Amino acid sequence: MKVNGHDYLTVWMEGSSLMMIDQNKLPWSFEIHQCHDVRASCEAIRNMTVRGAGAIGAAAGYAMAQAFLQAPDSNPESFVKQARLDIESTRPTARNLFYAVERVFEAGRISTANAVAEAQLVADNDIADSRAIGTFGSELFGNQTRVLTHCNAGWLAFVDYGTALSPIFKSRNNGKEVFVYVSETRPRSQGARLTAWELHNENIPHLVVPDNAVASLMAHKKIDLVMVGADRIALNGDVANKTGTLDRAILARYFNIPFYVAAPTSTFDAQCPDGSHIVIEHRHPDEVLMQEGPDQWGNLHKIRVVSKGSQAINPAFDVTPFELITGLITEKGIIPAEQQAIQKILTS
Ligand code: MRU
Repeated sequence: MKVNGHDYLTVWMEGSSLMMIDQNKLPWSFEIHQCHDVRASCEAIRNMTVRGAGAIGAAAGYAMAQAFLQAPDSNPESFVKQARLDIESTRPTARNLFYAVERVFEAGRISTANAVAEAQLVADNDIADSRAIGTFGSELFGNQTRVLTHCNAGWLAFVDYGTALSPIFKSRNNGKEVFVYVSETRPRSQGARLTAWELHNENIPHLVVPDNAVASLMAHKKIDLVMVGADRIALNGDVANKTGTLDRAILARYFNIPFYVAAPTSTFDAQCPDGSHIVIEHRHPDEVLMQEGPDQWGNLHKIRVVSKGSQAINPAFDVTPFELITGLITEKGIIPAEQQAIQKILTS
């Protein structure tokens, strides 16, 4: 997608360095972050310089390739195995990370060049899948559809295009008018910071809404459709996504609004029978206790927004049961959130 007139991907490789848009600086400044080695790449995934299921999948694949490139002559195998463990311990919930690491690790058994090529293929597939999701998902949009999305499943969360936002971009490019409600997505505010930034860059009309205003918007018939991304989808169709997704799914069912989840098949976990087996990442309580923003000179500061005597918990994801999901938009088409349909698409 374009930023200031230039085409960018969210994450890419230059030589043995992993390059990425620094998402911790957005929307206040647009900076590129360089990871010279696998250790720096792990840190960038952990601290969410790069984030979003597809983008951390691609970054993890590149990081695995970096490990092959940087392995010492003496005992390269143990270096690469340890790197795999390190990458896999950065963030537990998004399936794409494990999917990418597995693919690149296996490819590297043949040669380092093969690992690098596989990492590139993972990223290229992510782009192609996101595009296809846009095409299938755009069929759900009429003219002047008002859609609610949560968190950021736009191009920043993938290598390009995104999942939940890809059908919105596609519909707009096809000449449809689309209006987007963006729930802010506390505590890290991916909706307010990232999705709003993406939509603004693309000139797509939108409003950011407080997380707790969604029920009222639905009650006032302001929302026609809900579209969100996913971090991991179990075999029975249960979906782990950014915390707050479950609330929206319950509300959508109550108000009879279609609730779609957009995700590539690399987010599906065939080994995970249902959502109760998905590991939910708990992040640092400071993300709840503090809020971040720039001063008048553009320097970022954190301020405490919670009473001093109180602590917080910070589960980063929740699980929406398959019964609440109208459909799953994949790169192979839109399917029901049902085991049989999922099994079929994973083997097709
Ligand atoms: O914690 P994050 O920002 O990496 O969360 C991932 C997400 O962006 C969301 O859960 C998103 O809705 C699905 S991933 C494209």
